[in-house]
Amino acid sequence: MLRSKDLLGLRDITAEEITLILDTAEEMKQAVKSGKKSFDLLKGKTLVTLFYENSTRTRSSFELAGKYLGATEINISASSSSVQKGETLIDTGKTLQALATDFIAIRHPMGGAPALLAQTVGCSVLNGGDGMNEHPTQALLDMLSIREEFGTLKGLKVAILGDIKHSRVAKSNLFGLKKMGAEVWVYAPKTLIPKGFDELGAHIATSREQCVDGANAVMGLRIQLERQSGGLFPSLSEYSRFYGVNDEVMKHADKKAIVVHPGPVNRGVELTPKLIDGSTSRIEDQVTSGLAVRMAVLKLLSEYREAHV
Ligand code: CP
Repeated sequence: MLRSKDLLGLRDITAEEITLILDTAEEMKQAVKSGKKSFDLLKGKTLVTLFYENSTRTRSSFELAGKYLGATEINISASSSSVQKGETLIDTGKTLQALATDFIAIRHPMGGAPALLAQTVGCSVLNGGDGMNEHPTQALLDMLSIREEFGTLKGLKVAILGDIKHSRVAKSNLFGLKKMGAEVWVYAPKTLIPKGFDELGAHIATSREQCVDGANAVMGLRIQLERQSGGLFPSLSEYSRFYGVNDEVMKHADKKAIVVHPGPVNRGVELTPKLIDGSTSRIEDQVTSGLAVRMAVLKLLSEYREAHV
C-alpha cells in the first residue's frame, strides 16, 4: 500500500512504492490495450483536474483514467475559473473539498503548490507538474515504458539530454530511476544544467557521446522556451546541431537502445523527426503508459483512503 494520501513527487517515495505503482500500471495497461475501459474501482468517487498551465497528455490521461475507473470527473482550467477573479489556491481547494471531491490532480506554475494544497484539504492531491519542481506521474510512465522494454530498471543507463534546468521531468526521473537502481547521465549547455544536480546523484557528461555511450534509453527533453529568460543558448538551430540527438549520436548508445521523450516535442530540436518516428521510438507507448500509471495511482490512493481517511 502507498504511505500517503497524496502523490506529490518521487523524492520521498520508496522503491517498493514505485514497484507497486509500476506493477499495478502494467496490469492496467494490458487491460486497456485489450479493450477494457470500464472498471468500478472508483465508483462513487470524484476526480477534479485543476490545471493552471496548458497540457494535452497529462490532463487528458488523468481525465480518462478517472472515467475508465468509474469516477465522476470534471476539469477546471485556471483561465475560465474564479482564479481569474483573484481566488487563492487554498480557497479553490476548500471549495472543491466542500463539493465532496476525493481526488484533485493539479498542474501549477509554482513549485510546491500541490504540497500546499495537500496540507489544506483532505482530498488526495496528485501532482501533474509543479513549476520546475517535480512531475511524478511523468517519470513513473517513463519508467514503465523503459521497464517493459528491458524487464527491469536495475543496472540500466538512462541518458537525458535537453533543458534539464527548467525540467521537473528530469528531477522526478532522477529520483525515481536512482531508487530503482538505474544510472542517470545528463548533457546540455552548461547554462541548462541546474546547480547541484550532480549532488542529487546525476552524472554530468562533458559531451553528447559520453552521455549516450552504452545507454539503454535516451531521453530528449523539450527546450522550454516559455520558461527561458533568454541568453541560455544562441539559437534553436545551434542547439540542435551541438546538443540534439540524431542517428550519429545514437550510434554510441547500446544496440537495443530506445528513444523516449515526455512530449510535447520540438521536432528537429531535441530529437530528429527520423528518431521521433523511427522503430526505436517509444514516444507513443509512453502516452499509453501515462494513462495506465494515472489509473494505477488513482486506484492505489483510493485504497489508501479506504484504509486511512
Ligand atoms: N509530458 C507532459 O506533461 O505533457 P503535457 O504538457 O501535454 O501534459
